[in-house]
Amino acid sequence: MELIKSETYHNLARAFAGECQAHIRYMFIEYGAKKEGHKSLAAVIDKISYNEFNHARMFYTFLQQASTEDIDNVDIMAGYPFREKWDVLENLRLAAEDENQEATEVYPAYRDKALEEGFPEIAKLFDDIIKVEESHREIFLELYDQMKNNTLYKKDKPVVWRCADCGYESTGEEAWDECPVCKAKRGAVVLHLKSTEQK
Ligand SMILES: [Fe+2]
Ligand SMILES: [Fe+2]
Repeated sequence: MELIKSETYHNLARAFAGECQAHIRYMFIEYGAKKEGHKSLAAVIDKISYNEFNHARMFYTFLQQASTEDIDNVDIMAGYPFREKWDVLENLRLAAEDENQEATEVYPAYRDKALEEGFPEIAKLFDDIIKVEESHREIFLELYDQMKNNTLYKKDKPVVWRCADCGYESTGEEAWDECPVCKAKRGAVVLHLKSTEQK
């Protein structure tokens, strides 16, 4: 089957649109987190947002292979969530839900269709990205839990807190309000997240 005549062609366009939106939605969260002083949390979100940009780029690249002519328009019927408002905590929860839907429903269906239509490379891309979206879901859930339970900067046992700005470290149950060395605010401490390799 020619890619341009396939459902996979439309699914690539749908996935591209979804990834573009996820990229921007996470920039919204990053914007809100920065406004509230959660500098390190914003940095974690920024990395995820950049991942979505790259997912969009890869779907776009495959779609481009469908024609040597300019692709002037791709008509797609697709729905996307518009639930996020300007509440960082709530948006972290919603982001985890969106990731979950992508990883468990949307992309598995696109992967299966690509296999059925004879596009194994595109199926593999969907499969690889499913794994990434699952890891995104875990990060969002962990950030959500810690923010909700006030454990972003306070633990029930002593841990090493490191200032992302100047590198100063000290051990204690709670992070400083202001780094004693460079005066960076509390939000600049490196977060303790099991779901990332951050330390
Ligand atoms: Fe993505
Ligand atoms: Fe994601």
